[in-house]
Amino acid sequence: MQFDLTGRVLAALIAGSTLLLPAQAAPPGIAAAVKARKANYKEIGGAFKTISDEVKTGSPDLATIRPLARDIATRAQGQLKWFPKGSGPESGEKTRAKSTVWTDMAGFNRAHASFVTAANGLNTAIASGNAAQIAQAQKALGTTCKTCHDRYRETD
Ligand code: HEC
Repeated sequence: MQFDLTGRVLAALIAGSTLLLPAQAAPPGIAAAVKARKANYKEIGGAFKTISDEVKTGSPDLATIRPLARDIATRAQGQLKWFPKGSGPESGEKTRAKSTVWTDMAGFNRAHASFVTAANGLNTAIASGNAAQIAQAQKALGTTCKTCHDRYRETD
C-alpha cells in the first residue's frame, strides 16, 4: 500500500513534469504582450502607409489623415509598455524584437522619445493644413520608424 502510493506519486510527478514541458513557452502575460505590441505596430504601419500615400498625392486629404495621425501619436505614447522584460527572443514567442531592446534600454527609450515627438509633430503639421509642412513631418516620422527598426527589430 505504502509502495503503491509512492508509485502513484512518482507516476504523477513524471506525468506532471511531462505536462510542464510545453510550459517552456512564454507565460500568458508575455504571450499577450507580444501579441498586443505586434497588433499595435500593425495598426501604426497601416495608418502610416495611408498617410504616406496621401502625402504622395501632393494634396493630402486632411479628413483622412488627421484621425490616423492622432491614432499613431496615441499608440506611440504606450509603446514602452509593450516590451515587458522577458518578451524578447528568449520568450519563444514569434517576435522580431531584438534583445537589444532590453540590453540597450537607454537607446530604445531615446528612439521611443523621438517617435513620440515626430508623431506629435505630424499632428501639428496636419493642424496647419500646409501640405509642404505635412510632407516634411511625415518624412521625419518615417525616419524615426526606420531608425528604431534598424537597431531593435530583426529583418524578416
Ligand atoms: C522605438 C522603436 C520603434 C519605433 C519608433 C517604431 N517601431 Fe515598428 N517595430 C518595432 C519593433 C521592436 C517591432 C517588432 C515587434 C515584434 O515582432 O514583437 C516593430 C514592428 C513593426 C511592424 C510589424 C508588426 C507585425 O505585424 O508584426 C510594423 C508594420 C511596424 N513596426 C511599423 C512601424 C511604423 C510605421 C513606425 C513609425 C510610424 C514604427 N513601426 C515605429 C520598433 C519600433
